Amino acid sequence: MSTPLVEMRGISIAFGGVKAVDDVSVDLYPGEVVGLLGHNGAGKSTLIKILSGAYAKDSGEVLVNGQQVTIHNPRDARSHNIETIYQTLALADNLDAASNLFLGRELVTKSGLLDEAAMEAECRKIMGRLNPNFTKFSDPVSALSGGQRQSVAIARAVYFNAKILIMDEPTAALGPHETQMVAGLIQQLKEQGIGIFLIDHDVHAVMELCDRASVMKNGKLVGTVNISDVTDDDLLSMIILGKNPTQKTQ
Ligand SMILES: Nc1ncnc2c1ncn2[C@@H]1O[C@H](COP(=O)(O)OP(=O)(O)O)[C@@H](O)[C@H]1O
Ligand SMILES: [Mg+2]
Repeated sequence: MSTPLVEMRGISIAFGGVKAVDDVSVDLYPGEVVGLLGHNGAGKSTLIKILSGAYAKDSGEVLVNGQQVTIHNPRDARSHNIETIYQTLALADNLDAASNLFLGRELVTKSGLLDEAAMEAECRKIMGRLNPNFTKFSDPVSALSGGQRQSVAIARAVYFNAKILIMDEPTAALGPHETQMVAGLIQQLKEQGIGIFLIDHDVHAVMELCDRASVMKNGKLVGTVNISDVTDDDLLSMIILGKNPTQKTQ
């Protein structure tokens, strides 16, 4: 068995009196998609924000490639090749794909000017690999479809060497055709050995896209299961009843 890309062990964080995440452990292997499931307020986003550096945990530890790491901010997370694609995608609507690819990390010429030509060339290269049907290089991303926007956000993470990708409901706003396109992108990332934590509340999306799923309820981990071992109903009862199908009562 290989070393996990990420291990989060015994993670807890409280806001005021509320234990948003309570002693939760999850892990992620190379080339794997792990779904994080649970109702609104279960603690999924909070758990993942600890990994992306948005929140500081109260207790627990985070290991990347078997080494304990300290993540105080998003820059620390990036230094461990952890990239996050937020549900809002955090794209600048008025800018084109290349400008969004390099947003905040622009390429500059030797004289310190923005190197637009180099950025567009790099953008064409990576989009050619990830999404060959993409042609709208000169349009602002506001003119793109949901799936195309998602592919720009994914390209941004991959270009900057993501090994651990956090995706928040990547197919929530997409139609069936575009959902298939994003599923294809996720498959490509897996083949490159990238590990993905995929936050979702849709059991069907998780059944289709994930290898394993960790279910949370009221800040606690209900359990982690292999997708091939469970049905939609098993996942639903984990989410709703907090019941783990591997803990069968006779
Ligand atoms: N910044 C915050 N301040 C106070 N409470 C928060 C904050 N972020 C999350 N919470 C609380 O933590 C709990 C878990 O929320 P969240 O992680 O967003 O759940 P999920 O992503 O599963 O819907 C909720 O009770 C939520 O109100
Ligand atoms: Mg959330």
